[in-house]
Amino acid sequence: MALWGGRFAEQTQRSVQDFTQSISYDKRLYKHDIAGSMAHAAMLGAAGIIPKESADAICRKLAVLKRRIAEGKMEFKVELEDIHMHIETALTEALGPEGARVHTARSRNDQIALDIRLYLRDEIDDLTKEIRTLQTALVKKADEHKRTVMPGFTHMQHAQPVLLAHHLLAYVEMLARDAERLADARRRINVMPLGSGAIAGTTLPIDREFVRKRLKFPKMTRNSMDAVADRDFACELLAALSIFAMHISRLSEDLILWMSQEFSFITFGDAFCTGSSLMPQKKNPDIAELSRGKTGRIYGDLTALLTICKGLPLTYNRDLQEDKEPLFDAIDTVHAILSVYPAMIDSMKVNKDAMLKAASDPGLMATDLAEALVRKGVPFRFAHHKVGALVKFAADHNKLLNELTLKEMKSVFPEADASMLKLFAPVHAVEGRDVFGATGFKQVASQVAFWKKELRFSS
Ligand code: ARG
Repeated sequence: MALWGGRFAEQTQRSVQDFTQSISYDKRLYKHDIAGSMAHAAMLGAAGIIPKESADAICRKLAVLKRRIAEGKMEFKVELEDIHMHIETALTEALGPEGARVHTARSRNDQIALDIRLYLRDEIDDLTKEIRTLQTALVKKADEHKRTVMPGFTHMQHAQPVLLAHHLLAYVEMLARDAERLADARRRINVMPLGSGAIAGTTLPIDREFVRKRLKFPKMTRNSMDAVADRDFACELLAALSIFAMHISRLSEDLILWMSQEFSFITFGDAFCTGSSLMPQKKNPDIAELSRGKTGRIYGDLTALLTICKGLPLTYNRDLQEDKEPLFDAIDTVHAILSVYPAMIDSMKVNKDAMLKAASDPGLMATDLAEALVRKGVPFRFAHHKVGALVKFAADHNKLLNELTLKEMKSVFPEADASMLKLFAPVHAVEGRDVFGATGFKQVASQVAFWKKELRFSS
């Protein structure tokens, strides 16, 4: 009979056990479940709710169980439903009535709320480190390419020349905000819910402060109903991971395009690509493609959890057991992406000549010409129009902008002078953009230096 079987006359059907179990996936919470039970038992002993000796025996046995589970020696069975009942049953089998005291003044409803918070706290710490590792790989590449000029795109059309370092650092900024979002979600995850019981707290004189301190939570939940019912903190984490994945997906898209034969801007090391079983010539950017693809499932995980929660009356409903698989899936997927992405970036080889050649399209410098007219006092909107007319003139005469003579330029706008003929070098265009946050050499070098300091590395 199950631990909760007192009021039941019949055994649960096997198919129902299979349907209701969560052990197949919540077993990964065993360390956090045990940490929570140790703190809870120690509190029960200290508060005189159970004998001190029982509390000590429970804590000692829990330490043994933790080792046994880590060594793969605990047998998981669907009859025991979830990780909480596996551990409680093992404890009671080993200690008899003493073990049976551990669940005093506790429900699985506040227990699971605690376990998830403990688990997510740890995962966020790991994910944050992994994001830093990716940022470091990107900053190192940026450092190597502080003077590598490439075309920048808007609408997927040549826009203006930029530095490759500037492009890469754009993603470093995005990743920094992703890490901030994780830290922000962590603040709301880091609240201690135990003591809320099933819904309304307990009649026993528990000491929630004791448990809070023991488990290193800065705060505890103020409302027991809220504590067992809500998973907004988990939704927030999934939202933060979705945004991270969106950034990775965009970076992946850039890299995939750059590696195409049409661009030929970059290539990755052989160890980071795979081939085709049919076409012998193929070398594909699979890591980037799969990361772009996996973004879809992370969005799916967020949508799943939001949908699970949206129709639930207060407080705990069994639907909430469905929170775990999307959470675990998103976290595993992000770990998986971050386990390969930094090394792939390290292996990236850049074809500087191809980038410079693409950036040498004189059309990319049309804005610079308009700004040169602004310097001569022409209002920008008129300058824009004049340069537009010049672009048309060049096209009509089958010439590129930098192939026009001064005389031809003057025929379109009389303000033209010889210095304007020299504006068409992409290096010059980059050099000229020297405002904070822009792509100028000095600005980008100082941003690289900023990030090296921020990420604490030198090379
Ligand atoms: N396995 C459950 C979950 O993940 C634990 C809480 C179950 N509570 C209950 N009264 N059945 O949500």
